[in-house]
Amino acid sequence: MELLKDYIRKYGNVPNDNVLKVDAFLNHQIDAKLMMELAKDFKEHFKDKKITKIMTIETSGIAPCVFLGYLLDVPVVFMKKNSSAILDENFYHTTVHSFTKNIDYDLILSKKYINEDDHVIFIDDFMANGEACLGALRIIEEAKANVSGIGIVIEKSFQNGRKLVEEKGFDIYSQARIKSLKQGTITFVEE
Ligand code: G4P
Repeated sequence: MELLKDYIRKYGNVPNDNVLKVDAFLNHQIDAKLMMELAKDFKEHFKDKKITKIMTIETSGIAPCVFLGYLLDVPVVFMKKNSSAILDENFYHTTVHSFTKNIDYDLILSKKYINEDDHVIFIDDFMANGEACLGALRIIEEAKANVSGIGIVIEKSFQNGRKLVEEKGFDIYSQARIKSLKQGTITFVEE
């Protein structure tokens, strides 16, 4: 998506060869107009899919999803990253390992907000190694809901996430695909 690439070129920072900071419009300060354009682009991409619910993971996936939920008139549900809350039979949960942060965390979702009749679009702000996405998919599958699509705002294509998720049989639509961040230079995958 050209507009998003323009934002990344203009506002993105590259502190090292692996990390792209986009705090100026997505991860800290949020550009609402851009979020709406991201949502319109997801709506167009998934226009042939049945969608009853949009799912994401707190925190930064929520912003584009709220606009998409508004456009599609379906609920937006975010899975929570849990450290201490009491888990019981009312919640689905799975453990996710973050390679970027080198921590494990529990992803949780109340059984109230998903059921086997749901057709879910899963959206997240970043895909690096795909662990968060795979964890979310485990929960959606455990709930016996259907996965209608996976949307990612920024995919770091030089990491393993896409490969691992595709190996599970899912397609991914990424709005911007980063080929390399070497030597502070942002290079996109040619599409
Ligand atoms: P993975 O799920 O794809 O394996 O990603 P990983 O655990 O490696 O990433 C952990 C967190 O770091 C996630 O955010 C992810 O979005 C974010 N992240 C990974 N690579 C980058 C990057 O290059 N730039 C930025 N800005 N973020 C990156 P999170 O902890 O879930 O944060 P938030 O959603 O609460 O903001």
